[in-house]
Amino acid sequence: MPARVSPKALLAANWKMNPVNAGDALDLVKGVMPASIAHPDVIEVAIFPPFPWLLGIAEVLEGTTVKLGAQDCFWEISGAYTGEVSPAMLKGWCQWVITGHSERRAYLGETDDMVARKTAAALANDLSVIMCVGELDEHYEAGKTAEVVTAQVKAGLANCSADDSARLVIAYEPVWAIGSGKSAEPEHAYTTMRSIRRIVGELIGAGAARKVRVLYGGSVNASNVESYVELPLCDGCLVGGASLNAEEFAKIVEVTAGVYRHR
Ligand code: PGA
Repeated sequence: MPARVSPKALLAANWKMNPVNAGDALDLVKGVMPASIAHPDVIEVAIFPPFPWLLGIAEVLEGTTVKLGAQDCFWEISGAYTGEVSPAMLKGWCQWVITGHSERRAYLGETDDMVARKTAAALANDLSVIMCVGELDEHYEAGKTAEVVTAQVKAGLANCSADDSARLVIAYEPVWAIGSGKSAEPEHAYTTMRSIRRIVGELIGAGAARKVRVLYGGSVNASNVESYVELPLCDGCLVGGASLNAEEFAKIVEVTAGVYRHR
């Protein structure tokens, strides 16, 4: 049976374009801190705020076990790219970056090729990466999940090598499950995550693939998180909406810590 990669579950809090005020962002991070640092042996928390809040939040997180990440980055290091943020700029503040989120694919027209370039650039700049993949509702209904997700993983990792494996995480997020309250059946998540592991092994070699973590994301909350983190190959969750509520996120951490302690 495929095993988890790490003794620690990764819980990634994707705040998306929230909160709108700096003060609210600081309140939120302070609210999630106690739970996020309470189980350093079994839980690794990474918080992904909007760009403008990164510096202020970096100060709050300094010296703690909680990591900071950006929700996106560009693939070049510097130059005439108005509005873009380079991974070299991020690495002073962040340990992580998300690439290929479905909202960027849908609203900003990000292609697999762009995701591959961003992923490689972030890894080359010593950042850890959560690369997101997932099928649309129509693919799910047509039974094409494995095909779609496998193609996204292959394309997204086109410029990666075995050396990147320990800093590479793939988040399986069915697009229809994101923000919809309709989370995936754990069996569906498990089957797809297993396909992801298989394809990563084919791409970078089985040994290196054993270091690549795989997360589930899509309407994760305190009531359903257990059904994902107890899956034998699930290395944690990418949490969107529920990470904006400090109490709910704290419960997600507590439930996950309980599962990981009693494996
Ligand atoms: P959600 O978002 O938890 O609000 O569904 C997850 C994500 O988009 O990463």
